[in-house]
Amino acid sequence: MEKYILALDQGTTSSRALIFDRQGNICSIARKELRQHYPQPGWVEHDPAEIWASQVSVAVEAMSKISISGRQLAGAGITNQRETTVVWDRNTGEPVYNAIVWQDRRTAAYCDELKNLGLSALLRGKTGLESDAYFSGPKIRWILDHVPGARLKAERGQLAFGTIDSWLVWKLTGGRVHVTDVSNASRTLLFNIHDLCWDEELLELMHIPASLMPVVASSSEVYGFVTDAFGGAEVPVAGIAGDQQAALFGQMCLEKGMVKNTYGTGCFMLMNTGGEPFISENRLLTTVAWQMNGQTTYALEGSIFMAGAVLQWLRDGLGIIQSSAEADALARQVSDTGGLYFVPAFTGLGAPHWDQYARGLMIGLNRGTTPAHIARAALESIAFQTLDVLQVMEQDTNLKIHELRVDGGASASNLLMQIQADLLGIPVVRPRITESTAAGAACLAGLATGFWKDINEIAGQWQRELVFSPSADPNQARIKKLRWADAVKRSGRWER
Ligand code: G3P
Repeated sequence: MEKYILALDQGTTSSRALIFDRQGNICSIARKELRQHYPQPGWVEHDPAEIWASQVSVAVEAMSKISISGRQLAGAGITNQRETTVVWDRNTGEPVYNAIVWQDRRTAAYCDELKNLGLSALLRGKTGLESDAYFSGPKIRWILDHVPGARLKAERGQLAFGTIDSWLVWKLTGGRVHVTDVSNASRTLLFNIHDLCWDEELLELMHIPASLMPVVASSSEVYGFVTDAFGGAEVPVAGIAGDQQAALFGQMCLEKGMVKNTYGTGCFMLMNTGGEPFISENRLLTTVAWQMNGQTTYALEGSIFMAGAVLQWLRDGLGIIQSSAEADALARQVSDTGGLYFVPAFTGLGAPHWDQYARGLMIGLNRGTTPAHIARAALESIAFQTLDVLQVMEQDTNLKIHELRVDGGASASNLLMQIQADLLGIPVVRPRITESTAAGAACLAGLATGFWKDINEIAGQWQRELVFSPSADPNQARIKKLRWADAVKRSGRWER
């Protein structure tokens, strides 16, 4: 009976399941869109019950597409949108509130308070993160403070917190296992990335009882077994990593200095920095990449909030394209943006600016501006934001980045990838399998269960598909970078 590895990829906009064979090929994919809830401006929520139901249904669908049963799964790996926060009742298994999504800004004022109290250095030192509404801790605090009865229940030990990985493992194991992995824990603003444990001082600071927190495990081990979601097959759940860390692993960026960029809803550039946490001077995040066989690997991360989401806005907000993929064709109708710059700070700006109050702007509009110019400026905005992060990453680490490995939905755009190579002045490498996130989760689970012998067996499966080489006039690129920096400055601190 042939065996496979299942990767559950629970992202911001969809739940997906992918099945890999021993050669690292994707044999089956199923996907279901996830409903987004915007109860107030700046608030973003998901329904945890829908997350669970959609994730199980895509797993079952992916298996049925290739006519296999749960018994043929050697293991399951989970990778997930990070930071998104669920709090549920341990007795009933019911969430006490919707999942508060990473993009949600409701805790911005509280995060400012922490900054004003002079706590930024403490937070950065312990967690490697910024005081920003992006992370889970302030979201947990909000739930305990605003959901009637939640704080009392939390103090009595009746509630559990989890990022989406924890929620899925809890559900998959029938409420038996409450766990997260180091990579997800390192996105909460509550986890000490040096000692690799929940930080008591930070829990106290945010008034979060320690009893809420899951056990923190490595990224590749058997955490528990699926009870009845896959027809009674007791599949080992054996890999967990936040989606960006999983993608770094899936891109085989296993050596210090290797960098990948994922063009998803947002854009996340991560550099493997080896066995020591590297604290940035330029407000990049220090995060745990993964932990395996007792060894911890760290990464430096630049998180950009709007990337593929910019193209979605062209589709849903402006209505100038029917699908995100059309942005490419529309932008190709013009050879440049005609001097238009588009800063997509719709939900503030992430790295390296960290301005919660920046808002989107287009500047350089003139009578000749057409939807094609806007589409091209939107694609450029993704590449410019990536450039901002790459530059400070090099400055911080004193390491020259020689190539950028790319993946994620928008990496399919050849135009965007070429613009990216031209702006960065280095080759942009797209692998044969751009499902790096799922591949990473599958590898972590496959290694823990002996499905793959060792990392070398997997590393040999990674292949380049296309390399985009820089071809632009460096002088022109330099002028454009200056104009972009000026536009970013103008979008700053607008909301207040
Ligand atoms: O930190 C947020 C990130 O994990 C979300 O990723 O792919 O769901 O946009 P994605």
